[in-house]
Amino acid sequence: MITYKDILKDTDPKVREKSRNVKLPLSDEDRNTLLEMLQYIKDSVDEEKSEKYGLRPAVGLAAPQIGVMKKMFAMAILVEEEDGSLSFDEYAFVNPKIVSYSVQRAYLKDGEGCLSVEEEHRGFVPRAARITVKGYDVLQDKEVEIRLRGYKAIVAQHEMDHFNGVLFYDHINKKNPFEEIPNAMVIE
Ligand code: NI
Repeated sequence: MITYKDILKDTDPKVREKSRNVKLPLSDEDRNTLLEMLQYIKDSVDEEKSEKYGLRPAVGLAAPQIGVMKKMFAMAILVEEEDGSLSFDEYAFVNPKIVSYSVQRAYLKDGEGCLSVEEEHRGFVPRAARITVKGYDVLQDKEVEIRLRGYKAIVAQHEMDHFNGVLFYDHINKKNPFEEIPNAMVIE
């Protein structure tokens, strides 16, 4: 089981290294790693488990954050169904690649956070509002091409940045962290 102590922080130079492509067909080891990453995210927003295991809440996790320098990331976002129940909108990608970006940008009103970053870095992180991602989806067990928009697009771009050793605060305008981003989708 992955816990918060397994997550490399930005004080570790490894977080700045590049990840490599994963060999397909996927090995059991890689599959298990990715599924454990997904489990971390889901457990981290479960009050009981998060307290029991000391998990810091997250919506996404990239393999290099646990020292596995491979292009894999998991993302799980709680969504409310029509009947009021909660379920996860979840993804587990291997070798994901962004094949198109919208011109329109988007940012989170309260800025971004990251399990690898313990210090606060305030400011807007400009991202593309919509992206198309191509890759192998472990949950569907096939190659997929999907469109993501808004919050999910932001999370996916954040996670894929980790493959290049890029952290969210690298994108913040140092001189004016809250500088208005023209024509951007603002996400609460
Ligand atoms: Ni992160």
